[in-house]
Formats: sequence, structure tokens, C-alpha cells
Amino acid sequence: MKQGPPHRRSVLKGALGSILGLEGALAHSAAVASPRKIPFGAAVRGDALAADASYRAALAERCRLLVPEGSLKWPVLRPNRETFDFGDADTIAAFARSNGLGLRGHTLAWYGGMPAWAEAITSPVEAEWVLTSHIEAVVSRYRGFIGSWDVVNEPMPENPVSPRDLRSFVWTKTLGAEYIPIAFKAAHAADPAAQLVLNEYDIEFVGPRFAMRRAGILAIARSLVDRGIPIHAIGLQAHLFADREIDRDGLQAFLREIKALKLDVLVTELDVIDVGLPTDAATRDAMIARKAADFLHAVDEVTPPSAVLTWGITDRYTWVPMYFTRPDGTANRPLPLDSDLRPKPLMTVIERFTGSAS
Ligand code: XIL
Repeated sequence: MKQGPPHRRSVLKGALGSILGLEGALAHSAAVASPRKIPFGAAVRGDALAADASYRAALAERCRLLVPEGSLKWPVLRPNRETFDFGDADTIAAFARSNGLGLRGHTLAWYGGMPAWAEAITSPVEAEWVLTSHIEAVVSRYRGFIGSWDVVNEPMPENPVSPRDLRSFVWTKTLGAEYIPIAFKAAHAADPAAQLVLNEYDIEFVGPRFAMRRAGILAIARSLVDRGIPIHAIGLQAHLFADREIDRDGLQAFLREIKALKLDVLVTELDVIDVGLPTDAATRDAMIARKAADFLHAVDEVTPPSAVLTWGITDRYTWVPMYFTRPDGTANRPLPLDSDLRPKPLMTVIERFTGSAS
């Protein structure tokens, strides 16, 4: 290879290492990719689904299940106390049903974007009624079709100082930690057959903050199981940062504890946030695929996830640039298909890992 300036040499060397590493990842995926089938799916946007035929085709071709990115969240469903607006969610459910796809529910209790009328609740009695009646109405509407729900999403604060810390929002302010068992019991009552999931991010990496977040999720899960509250799985959101090291040992110790509680594990929102990666698309894509492969295999060495979902199927529709823009101004490349719906190495890694090659 023609020698360039030192910086360029190190980047190219790094890239070559990444591509070779990718080959290793793909080979590993191939080795692991026995004839098993792990359902693969993606988050879906109702507006894009209605407007974009190529997006619909890509979802139908590549996925076995979907999850609404926003259509089952409080801001969309509950614009005011009296209203349930299922329009978007019903459209997505109809698309999934007509294409023979499964559907996950996301999410019944989450601090993100609570409507003002709900956030303003101060009475514990009213809070419990509003929360449980919401869950009953939403879960029962899709009973028998949505087979898995993110009942409680992101209960941990950004930087917990104790495993007992919880993120402050209307349900913790009114009901305290009890909002979590209340939510899980209400979801189970509404659909006893549904898989009920506790879902969290930033529990995958090396560092004391991530270790504390893992400890917090484990403490919640253990408390629910010890009290006989119905919970069936932990969701690893897996928003992987390319510049963070996967904590293989810490993550695997966490997963062994989760399995000891007889809970399943899902990968619920996989994407790779590529802010610090090189500009070159092929180099970046190889490094993104490698990061995802490292994560998936670290999980798989303890337990195969019962599903793997990415938070979107194509770079054309991703949340990542809302919060994580690249310093070089180029578009993020976090998802399995590029913005022209062409598969990237990340798609190959996922297909080999899940056995879902289309
Ligand atoms: C994000 C959506 O992708 C955005 O479009 C929306 O503006 C904010 O929420 N973890 C979650 C998801 O559980 O619900 C979040 O989805 C991304 C982080």
C-alpha cells in the first residue's frame, strides 16, 4: 500500500484492521449462525410507512417483526386526558398484519415526552388510575397481536448513584418505585399471554456509570421476580457508541444474573452511533458492523436473545442525528440499510447472527 502521511497511514491501518476485523466478525457470525432463527425486526415510523413505498418493501423483505418508533407512546396516543388516538399505531399494525410480521409494543411507562396534562398529575390515586387505565386500554386493544411490550422503559436516571435510584417523572413523583410493579401487573391483567419487558439503554459498556445502571436494572428485575410480579424479559436497547468499549465481562455477569431470574433477553433498539468514526463510508461501515458483532456475540455467549431489533431499518429514517451529529458534517450511518436502502455490513452481521438472511 502506497505510504501516505502518518495520520492517514494510521487511519488506513485502522480501517484495514477494522475490515479484517469485520471479516473476523462475519466469520464468527457465520460460525455462530447455526440454522437457528432469531426473529429480526426494526422500529418503524408511521408517516414514512404511509409515504414511502420502497421503505415499506424493505421492511417487508428484511423484517419478521416491527415496533412503532413513536406511535404507541403517550404523546401520540394521549393528546389529552379524554383521548386515545390509535390512528398511527393501527396503521402500523395493519401493515404488519398484512405482511405477516409480528409487532412489539413500545412503551407503556416512559419519562420521555409525557403530555403536559399527565405530567401535571399530583395525586397518587389519580396517577394510579390514569396509568393503569392507559395500560389496560392500550394493551387490550392489541391483545393477541402485540406479543411483547416494553412495559417500563428507561427507569434509571442518566447517572445513578445507587442501584435504587429512579428517574424522576410523574409516576415516580406520585407513586414512587411502586409505579413499576403497578405497570407490570396492569399489562399482565390486560394480556396474560404477552411477554412483559423492562427496557434500558447504556448498560452495555465499560465504566462505573454503566455498571451502576446494570445494577439498577438487575435490582428492579429481582424485586419484581421476588414479589411474583409478572415480568418476562430484559430489553437491552443497544444504542452502541462506536467509541465506547463493550463491557464483555460486566455485561455477561449481568446476563447470567438475568438468566438466573429465569428472564429472557431481547436486543430492542440496536444501532451504532458513529460520531467519532472516520468519514470514509466503507471504513465506517466496517467498524460499525464490527461493534455490533462484538456486542451480539458477547450476549450470545451467555444467552441467545429472543429477538433482535434495530431502531430503524435504514439511515434514511434514524433518530441518531437528533442528538449525535458528526463533526465532519457527514450523515450518520447507524442502521443496517443505507439511505438508498442498500444493505451494509451491519445487515450481513445481523442476518448471519439471526439466521434471517432474506
Ligand atoms: C426516540 C425516537 O427515535 C425519536 O424519534 C423521538 O423523538 C424520541 O424517542 N430510547 C428509546 C426510544 O426507548 O423510545 C427513543 O426513541 C430512543 C431512545
